[in-house]
Amino acid sequence: MRLLILGGTVFLGRHVVDAALARGHEVTIFTRGRHGTAPHGVEHVIGDRADVTPLQGRAWDAAIDTSGYDPAQVDASSALDIGHYVFVSSCNAYPDWPDKPVDEDSPTWEDGEGYGPDKAAAERFVLARGGAVVRAGLIVGPHDNIFRLPWWVRRVREGGAVPAPGRPDRPLQIIDARDLASWMLDLAELRIAGAFNGTAPIGQTTMEELLRAADPDADLRWIPEDKLEEAGVEPWMEFPLWLPERFEGTWHIGTEKAQAAGLRTRPVGETVADIATWLENGGEAELDEWRSEHRPGKMSPEREAALSRLLC
Ligand SMILES: NC(=O)c1ccc[n+]([C@@H]2O[C@H](COP(=O)([O-])OP(=O)(O)OC[C@H]3O[C@@H](n4cnc5c(N)ncnc54)[C@H](OP(=O)(O)O)[C@@H]3O)[C@@H](O)[C@H]2O)c1
Repeated sequence: MRLLILGGTVFLGRHVVDAALARGHEVTIFTRGRHGTAPHGVEHVIGDRADVTPLQGRAWDAAIDTSGYDPAQVDASSALDIGHYVFVSSCNAYPDWPDKPVDEDSPTWEDGEGYGPDKAAAERFVLARGGAVVRAGLIVGPHDNIFRLPWWVRRVREGGAVPAPGRPDRPLQIIDARDLASWMLDLAELRIAGAFNGTAPIGQTTMEELLRAADPDADLRWIPEDKLEEAGVEPWMEFPLWLPERFEGTWHIGTEKAQAAGLRTRPVGETVADIATWLENGGEAELDEWRSEHRPGKMSPEREAALSRLLC
């Protein structure tokens, strides 16, 4: 298959490229050339999504779009000569999420601006052209430039008393970028259309299982949510993967439709082990300023100690 990847050099896209090459596809990537490079055997067309002229006059059997945020740009790229278009969206396309549980029948943003409304507007162009839309949950794995799960893996493996948020048995659902990549290739190859939530089934793992995968003997100090809130802990940014439980939908994303369409997820222990290896091999050096505003900062020992005192 001749496959166009819009993106492909940082995190999710990079795994799509690797999986596509492993399956023997002929791969073209389209990026500005600012982040990362194309592996051997991949055609790299340099350009900005604001102007897809360099892609005109050519044809691909399928495209996987990992870098679409602007609806007009997704309109332009999905109008190219492409057999089947797979667009990476987000659960933020649902106005109800993360406040309430969602599935693919939940309404998506109909107006407004910003990440979620823009993804929803971009989705409509893709769906109208018979493509597939994948509303990803929390994407994890090696090369994660937002660094949410790596933040935890690094911290737990540093040792000592590790403050941990809320309930140890709180269920979570995450998606390894490699599983998402592989399944999106299936959607492209089989020309499956429609909208899907792209994450693991509800209840896939728990916060404790995830943290213990980084070190089974970790000294985890679970701080109840009300104490975290009293202390003004910033959800998601100070403690990645933690939103207060009143955001009922956070880890209640229905995935039956995606599972029926073939999405399979590896055990979280495998993902955590691979992130640990990536970190040991200096993976953090890949991070640059791009998107650093979304990245959780390292927690200071003083802040950790202050949080641990909340348990006394
Ligand atoms: N991380 C999560 O947990 C999460 C959750 C839900 C959904 N998502 C979605 O998953 C996708 C994440 O993808 P990723 O960033 O990991 O993909 P990626 O394809 O690995 O990286 C982004 C690529 O886009 C290229 N790019 C950025 N701006 C561009 C532009 N204006 N024109 C052309 N190329 C451009 C970058 O290269 P250059 O900079 O060199 O151009 C880079 O190759 C996004 O669509 C995001 O909304 C993520």
